[in-house]
Amino acid sequence: MTKLIFEKGKPGRRAIHLPKMDTPDYMNTLSKKYMRKTPADLPEVSEPDVVRHYTDLSTKNFGVDANFYPLGSCTMKYNPKINEYMAALPGFSDVHPLQPEHTVQGCLELMHCLQQLLCEIAGMDAFSLQPAAGAQGEITGLMIMRKYLNDHGLEHKNIILVPDSSHGTNPASAALAGFTVQTIPSDQKGQTDLQQLKEMVHDGVAGLMLTNPNTVGVFEEHIEEIASVIHSVNGLLYYDGANANAIVGIVRPGDMGFDLVHFNLHKTFSTPHGGGGPGSGPIGVKKFLEEYLPNPVVKKDSDRYFLDYSSPCSIGKIHSFYGNFGVLVKAYCYILNLGREGLIQVAENAVLNANYIAKRLGEFLKIPFDKGFMHEFIVSYDTLLDQGIHAKDAAKRLIDFGIHPPTMYFPAIVSEALMIEPTETESKETLDRFCDLMEQIYQEGINDPELLKTTPHTKTVRRLDEVAAARNPVIKYME
Ligand SMILES: Cc1ncc(COP(=O)(O)O)c(C=O)c1O
Repeated sequence: MTKLIFEKGKPGRRAIHLPKMDTPDYMNTLSKKYMRKTPADLPEVSEPDVVRHYTDLSTKNFGVDANFYPLGSCTMKYNPKINEYMAALPGFSDVHPLQPEHTVQGCLELMHCLQQLLCEIAGMDAFSLQPAAGAQGEITGLMIMRKYLNDHGLEHKNIILVPDSSHGTNPASAALAGFTVQTIPSDQKGQTDLQQLKEMVHDGVAGLMLTNPNTVGVFEEHIEEIASVIHSVNGLLYYDGANANAIVGIVRPGDMGFDLVHFNLHKTFSTPHGGGGPGSGPIGVKKFLEEYLPNPVVKKDSDRYFLDYSSPCSIGKIHSFYGNFGVLVKAYCYILNLGREGLIQVAENAVLNANYIAKRLGEFLKIPFDKGFMHEFIVSYDTLLDQGIHAKDAAKRLIDFGIHPPTMYFPAIVSEALMIEPTETESKETLDRFCDLMEQIYQEGINDPELLKTTPHTKTVRRLDEVAAARNPVIKYME
């Protein structure tokens, strides 16, 4: 068990030696009532103690730089370090957001170019880089939809449709934006049930939120018809770009009929996802919605870039300053570095890798909706329930082998679901090792179920009550 820093060291040990004070001792001028009565109980440690302590801690955190991370719906791909380096260049990292525009022309140019690249990739006409996450992109898009509908005498439209496989943020964002949410069932192929959709669509429908490929990893083959059904009642089609890693450079949401799109730069475009940020969820729109984008938008006139606050229809600001600028730099470098051909290869390899694993796992596991996956797929781990083995047991066992568990129990429409997304950055050797381990674990489930029920066995943290850990975290050293 790792000792806490407070439990290490001895009185009098120091990691730093401060020079003697050469300024007046202001402590004596402070009123006594503001002073501590007893010295703070701080750890007294040497430099090696500190360095070893934090180096040890750093190895306890799992990340994609450490090992394979096949977390479905999250695109935990390796992010090239060159992009981190570029974002850390002083010209990008040392600027202040309140600097006059003429002193930050390079940063504004980068944002302007990124807006244009995202327009091209999404098939949209304008982008705002402000939202700091996918979920914030969603709420921004829904606020734009609300304002647009109100401005066009369509206040009565207040229903947002979402498929039953949708990510929880979709209905949550719609509710937060004041809409009523209705759920469309999926059909046998894991796609939006077109017949049901047609029956549910009427004049009160404001729009549909969809991710394509959807969260079971299947491409919605009727997307154009879905778009025309929604548009036939003057509704709007919102694209949740969380799964864009499967389609970048190949198809564009704008060409499928979507009116609004958010991308998760922290999934598809080279910023590590997970760990709570910083992220970025730029929102793109078709021309008729452009004036509703959050202020300011980066624009260019003949010889300078500027922040345009002039749109009277804008929904206003939704993030301080201009969004998470460092993430924008990484995305820009990533896109330029790969180019069009490189982006296409990203999507193709992401899909190839997922299908390779699905094929191998399908030899012993149950795979629903197995008609052509895109970048991720679902396993239904319900064939060992008689042995008392659940999806969670198999997922936790992977931790013993240094692999992050896949997403568990999502989407809720599949029993004992494991959602696996290998991403394009993994080699065949890594994929084979994962498949071999999954097979070994399945055999363990048959032959030694207790082993699985008590995993992980090799880590500092064993079976946690995840809900309690999230709701009642113990973050204090001592009570
Ligand atoms: C399908 C889908 N939509 C939306 C989101 C929300 O994105 P974010 O976590 O950036 O808010 C996620 C997050 O993983 C997702 O998988």
